Amino acid sequence: MSEKKPFYITTPIYYPSAKLHIGHAYCTTIADAIARFKRLAGYDVFFLTGSDEHGLKIEQKAEAEGVKPIEYTDKIVASFQNLWRLLNISNDDFIRTTQERHIKVVQEIFRRIYAKGDIYKGEYKGLYCTPCESYWTEHQLDENGCCPDCHRPVQEVAEEAYFFKMSKYADRVLAYIEEHPDFIQPVSRRNEMINFIKQGLDDLCISRTSFDWGIPVPTDPKHVIYVWFDALTNYLTPIGYLDDPEKFQKYWPADLHLVGKEIVRFHSIIWPCILMALDLPLPKKVYGHGWLIVDGDKMSKSKGNVVDPIALIDEFGADPIRYFLLREINLGQDGNFSRDALIQRINSDLANDLGNLLHRTLNMTLKFQGGEVLAPQGESDVDKALKADAAETVRYFAENMEQMELSSTIKKVWAFISRTNKYIDETQPWALAKDPARKQELANVMYNLLESLRLISVMIAPFMPQTAERIWQQLNLPQAFADVQLADIEQWGGVPAGLHVGKPEQLFPRIEVK
Ligand code: MSP
Repeated sequence: MSEKKPFYITTPIYYPSAKLHIGHAYCTTIADAIARFKRLAGYDVFFLTGSDEHGLKIEQKAEAEGVKPIEYTDKIVASFQNLWRLLNISNDDFIRTTQERHIKVVQEIFRRIYAKGDIYKGEYKGLYCTPCESYWTEHQLDENGCCPDCHRPVQEVAEEAYFFKMSKYADRVLAYIEEHPDFIQPVSRRNEMINFIKQGLDDLCISRTSFDWGIPVPTDPKHVIYVWFDALTNYLTPIGYLDDPEKFQKYWPADLHLVGKEIVRFHSIIWPCILMALDLPLPKKVYGHGWLIVDGDKMSKSKGNVVDPIALIDEFGADPIRYFLLREINLGQDGNFSRDALIQRINSDLANDLGNLLHRTLNMTLKFQGGEVLAPQGESDVDKALKADAAETVRYFAENMEQMELSSTIKKVWAFISRTNKYIDETQPWALAKDPARKQELANVMYNLLESLRLISVMIAPFMPQTAERIWQQLNLPQAFADVQLADIEQWGGVPAGLHVGKPEQLFPRIEVK
């Protein structure tokens, strides 16, 4: 049995109602960077993403295309999986709500809560927004009487339905949120949720009879289970809720549900009520990240500003896009995507700062020392300062990544990259190389540069995994990159003397701006 501390992280499961855009890729990239960091820090990570395939909207789309809903979702879900592969997303499982393993869990949960008396049959009268799959009350509608989220018209519906007694759990959920300041983050979202519950929680309608594309209510199959009850439960399925108690014990409660800000409510109110009804502990954290805006505007088909991540990856590669998204946007806030800004970052931060540092360092090692790493001896004040900076950057990386401070961590690592470039200008290895009496000084400088690059390679791995590995390979380090741990960079001096470095290969070509 592994002694590693478990860490269970999830993204939302995405609707296969259309192709995914760069905003969805943003959400999954954040989760991936956190998962990769946690693995580096020695956690036993379980990282889940997936697809949320039921509901009226999907049924209608499939019908419009003249195919069965499952045929429709199979095709789109394959495109999700392809995108995650191209973006190097390191998820440990991919849950589809149409899978048998999930259907079993949803039906069993329905049975258990029903048996307890917390699900009852009643009549639903309400206003439903089909695109958002959400029910609204009159007073929640916007000023035009439309859906407060998407501002499209809502439909009045009345039908027999099953209800979940959320009202019974409202006080307990509120008390939980108030007693656990870290449960909902950032704090602005937490305050919104507290205000929301204080207005009172209605019981939740969890079944529909007006469409078929869903998981049938086990005892009453003319009803299908309403999407959020089905969707949220996905988090329990792959970690063995029904079939692997040991695994379940290990990973539940989840450490982090990472979600977009508009679905924090479902994760921090409805989901806790369901878990309480099941006598399960609540997730440790629900983090609501901001939205990705394109050139200052929200992405939408009608505006024609939807950015296709696959086309971007084709053009620029996955790592620059990951870098851009994680660096430019502060997690809790909305952030802007622009092609010009992306190209600017590629040219300045990636090609210039990082690419040149690696290229210059390897070239000089080849030219001045035949590619061999010579053992350092003694140190100058400039060397000391560089090493102190390196130690401070590694410490910052370890602490701030734990706090999900992705953007500020990247900036800190890039400050160290600039600092290391400056060290080359300060020490002028080309001048040292001309003077045989300063051979040791040169050896020290080259050593410090290579060691700095070793640390940099590890610290960029959560953000740019392919680039990190390419640097590692060009340095020709003997340790397998996949085995590297945070502890390996907490000490200076991991580059072994006697090593022969590899040939420099360009990491990022500069993009010519037309
Ligand atoms: N299926 C539900 C989630 C169920 S989780 C139990 C859903 N799906 S979604 O496909 O509409 O959205 C999935 C995630 O993508 C959400 O967290 C949402 O915030 C995120 N994003 C969608 N557009 C986005 C941006 N423009 N920017 C950032 N994230 C965005 O909701």
